[in-house]
Amino acid sequence: MDTRPVIVVHGGAWAIPDDLAERSKIGVKNAATCGFSILANGGSSLQAVEAAVRILEDDTAFDAGHGAVLNADGDVELDAIIMDGKNLAVGAVSCIKNIANPVMFARTVMEQTPHVMLTGTGANKFAEKIKFEKTPTRELVTENAVKEWEQYQKYKQSVTSLFNTERMHDTVGAVAIDSKGNTACATSTGGITNKMVGRVGDSPIIGSGAYADNFTGAVSTTGHGESIMKVTLARQVLFNMEKGETPERAADQALEYMKNKVHGRGGLIVVSKSGEWAARFTTKRMAWASVENRILNYGLNPGEKFQEKLDL
Ligand code: GLY
Repeated sequence: MDTRPVIVVHGGAWAIPDDLAERSKIGVKNAATCGFSILANGGSSLQAVEAAVRILEDDTAFDAGHGAVLNADGDVELDAIIMDGKNLAVGAVSCIKNIANPVMFARTVMEQTPHVMLTGTGANKFAEKIKFEKTPTRELVTENAVKEWEQYQKYKQSVTSLFNTERMHDTVGAVAIDSKGNTACATSTGGITNKMVGRVGDSPIIGSGAYADNFTGAVSTTGHGESIMKVTLARQVLFNMEKGETPERAADQALEYMKNKVHGRGGLIVVSKSGEWAARFTTKRMAWASVENRILNYGLNPGEKFQEKLDL
């Protein structure tokens, strides 16, 4: 019997200022709707999560691809991962430049190299070799990203001083299960404003920024990268589910553990092998949307859940 397809996406945790709130909601709704239409037409969960994340990377409301935040040099360095829960195939890229859709490039690394992750100059060399589309940095940089970076420079704020307070936005991601019961996940980010050149966050790290295994389900995370890596947040959620917890409780327990153990905050989306899903966060806001049975759910503030019927 076919599995009921489900997709969940997020547009990042943290405060998300009011002037970005509406655009963030529209963005996650668009990405979830596009991903679901792929699933409804018989597409795979891998295709759905890649397409959903590409839409979020192209949307300047989010910290990924176009709209990514700037590092200490005012430059853009991007991280991404994609993982197939059917066979644990995975591709990741970190610290890459001049690529507007890092999730697509991560999938290329998965499918066209014997490796799991390429980083920095080596990754960009590979992109040149295969003639992967190159995008000038200036086209990825938004006014908002420059403003945020200038604030850090002006007040000499350290990266950590702003954590758990009013950071603007973070990372995008998607998880899905298709009609064959295959799960997949993808995560993409510009990281954190004013990060050291060469800093890699949680997003491209297997088990931290994302994990998918048909045995349990799929997870994509967002939030304070250094904390997420310390507790391997994505895998922790699946461990909790393997002990019998529902996706929602598994997510809450993992986020609580991260808060208590390393004082880190964040958010995540998860789908189980039977299509149960959750979108949970310990930051002020997280933009998220899901589609199942042609019903679109979405939210931004804690406890919020709006619903629309899709006419697909
Ligand atoms: N969660 C994104 C980062 O810290 O890089």
